Amino acid sequence: MDGRPTKLAIIGAGAVGTAIAYSALIRGVARTVALLDIKATKVTAEVLDLSHGLEFVPRADIIGSDDVSVCAGADVVVFTAGAKQKPGQSRLELAEATIGLTRSILPGVLEVAPNAIYLMVTNPVDVVTYAAQRVTGLPSNRLFGSGTVLDSSRLRFLIAQHCGVAVQSVHSYIVGEHGDSEIPLWSSATIGGVPLTSWKALPGRPAMDSVARERIRSEVVHAAYAIIEGKGATNYAIGLAATRIVEAVLGDEHRVLPVSTVASGFPGLEDVCLSLPTVVDRGGAQTRLEVPLSPDEEAGLLVSAETLRGMQARFGL
Ligand code: 2OP
Repeated sequence: MDGRPTKLAIIGAGAVGTAIAYSALIRGVARTVALLDIKATKVTAEVLDLSHGLEFVPRADIIGSDDVSVCAGADVVVFTAGAKQKPGQSRLELAEATIGLTRSILPGVLEVAPNAIYLMVTNPVDVVTYAAQRVTGLPSNRLFGSGTVLDSSRLRFLIAQHCGVAVQSVHSYIVGEHGDSEIPLWSSATIGGVPLTSWKALPGRPAMDSVARERIRSEVVHAAYAIIEGKGATNYAIGLAATRIVEAVLGDEHRVLPVSTVASGFPGLEDVCLSLPTVVDRGGAQTRLEVPLSPDEEAGLLVSAETLRGMQARFGL
């Protein structure tokens, strides 16, 4: 860091964009948080609402506009613009409209924020990230997707609940697509350093057997659908997850997060954006870890890559 006040720009002042702004303000992630939205009335109201809470958070300014200049000089740009996922609609069905938005919005933002790290959040995030990389020509460390950071958090929460431990003591990742073909990595999951594969249930707790693992996998995969069914969108957890990623960038944290990037040097995973545990720092998404995979996990990951590649092809990417 060069000591300069940091600026986070968020494109889209909908449920997700404003949740990111809200959690970023509470966590004191950046000195300035800027919101860009085509709806001037909406963005003005959101900024007014958030600004009335500034007394209660670490020192920050919140600004907003329907003019792209509000993003000028941003250190991190988070892209949340897009159509809302309807009940029963898959993330991939949203692709076409959102890919169009990356083409119409990102070149202008890049002009005013040429040095920023770009974090894509809009679904289907892997395909959108791939498209945005094509549109901007940015290297994959500087433009990447929020990927399965949220899914991994859901996985950790459910394991923690099942086993009766704190979510912070669980280490486990979901890899692949942020969506239906995603894969939990059971073989490398740990609780307090104990491999989950040899976890002995705590007194009064159920075993972490294959039935429990399948129930948890299915709950993670269907989590977003269940929330959308009930409230129309998911926003709080993705707000926190995206803020965590921004924090890792602005704080140069070298934090390992499963963000979505193009894999190179991973046989079978080329030419597609998907998530694997990756070191995130001030330069963005850096080295991807070579996580050990069981044969099933490896096969699942290849299927996930193939699914995403099929989608990319459908949208001419
Ligand atoms: C989520 O997983 C819908 O992608 C969003 O919550």
